[in-house]
Amino acid sequence: MKAIVIDRYGGPEELYEKDLPVPKVAADEALIETKATSINPIDWKTRRGYLKESFPWDFPVVLGWDIAGIVTEVGADVHEFKVGDEVFARPDMYNDGKRGTYAEYAAVKADKLVLKPQQLSFEQAAAIPLAGLTAWQVIVDRLKVKAGDKILVQAGAGGVGMFAIQIAKHFGAYVATTASAANEKLLRQLGADEVIDYHQTQITDVLRDYDAVFDTVGQISAGLEILKSDGQLVTIAGDPTEKQQNSHPAATSWWLKTNGAELKELANLVENNELRVVIDSIYPMTTSGLRSAHEKSETGHSHGKIVITTNER
Ligand SMILES: NC(=O)c1ccc[n+]([C@@H]2O[C@H](COP(=O)([O-])OP(=O)(O)OC[C@H]3O[C@@H](n4cnc5c(N)ncnc54)[C@H](OP(=O)(O)O)[C@@H]3O)[C@@H](O)[C@H]2O)c1
Repeated sequence: MKAIVIDRYGGPEELYEKDLPVPKVAADEALIETKATSINPIDWKTRRGYLKESFPWDFPVVLGWDIAGIVTEVGADVHEFKVGDEVFARPDMYNDGKRGTYAEYAAVKADKLVLKPQQLSFEQAAAIPLAGLTAWQVIVDRLKVKAGDKILVQAGAGGVGMFAIQIAKHFGAYVATTASAANEKLLRQLGADEVIDYHQTQITDVLRDYDAVFDTVGQISAGLEILKSDGQLVTIAGDPTEKQQNSHPAATSWWLKTNGAELKELANLVENNELRVVIDSIYPMTTSGLRSAHEKSETGHSHGKIVITTNER
């Protein structure tokens, strides 16, 4: 099968197309023909080797941790899905580094798969899993946001931020977010109550007594300053110091754990028209498509999700 791999850490030019064997399907897995995947900042961070201590992979490495596609084979123990089902997932990560989703096929554990909501294209569905699950786990599992809470979502126009705003609104929170002024209209359409232009205004000048901060940009000290004494900050973009973790308000960090049941919750929100997918751009699953998509993500200024499609473009 065709896959886009890297043979060593480095810039986007390290991505190239290679023939690899189609993955073998274990008893608890299904083989998915990839229709779309999406880019997350972890893709280029791992490509550059920034996380090599956490992921000691063998080259060639196949990156990519979102998939939307069609089931083409199921393992002996898989009964919930059948050949032809349209599904999406954030697959598990494996120590060999060979099972990413920049590939024509991926073998995915059935408990991570969810049927794709019919109203979503494969491209829209592939935009959800990693960023959407991260947003869900921070807003729901960690911050336990409830009706009436005031929450700040940093970088509302990012892949994670756009899902986080909508999930927090679903639970009835008052949501402030930071973004460039050009994104204010879109973020208000997604439900943001207050949009702070981070180029002009410091959050510490305009927000106070917040219940929760979802930090996606590594501004832990500023986030702690705007919280109530029993408020909570969760960051996905930094490591709070011991003092910040033990202070009141407190800061902790979070690393996504893939979870099919929670992805189903996100699919339900889509089906109830409570979760919109915003796509920044779509690139083809080719060497040049992946290189351009990585370059775009690495600017840190994409708005919504960058998606890769296997359709001819
Ligand atoms: N720990 C985990 O499990 C986990 C999971 C997912 C993501 N992450 C991390 O979380 C971070 C965000 O991920 P993402 O997918 O949302 O990234 P992304 O889509 O690349 O975010 C891009 C957005 O961030 C905005 N932005 C950049 N700097 C900003 C600032 N100082 N204030 C407000 N907005 C700012 C940009 O807006 P402008 O263009 O207007 O500047 C752009 O819209 C990344 O560092 C990623 O690696 C961690």
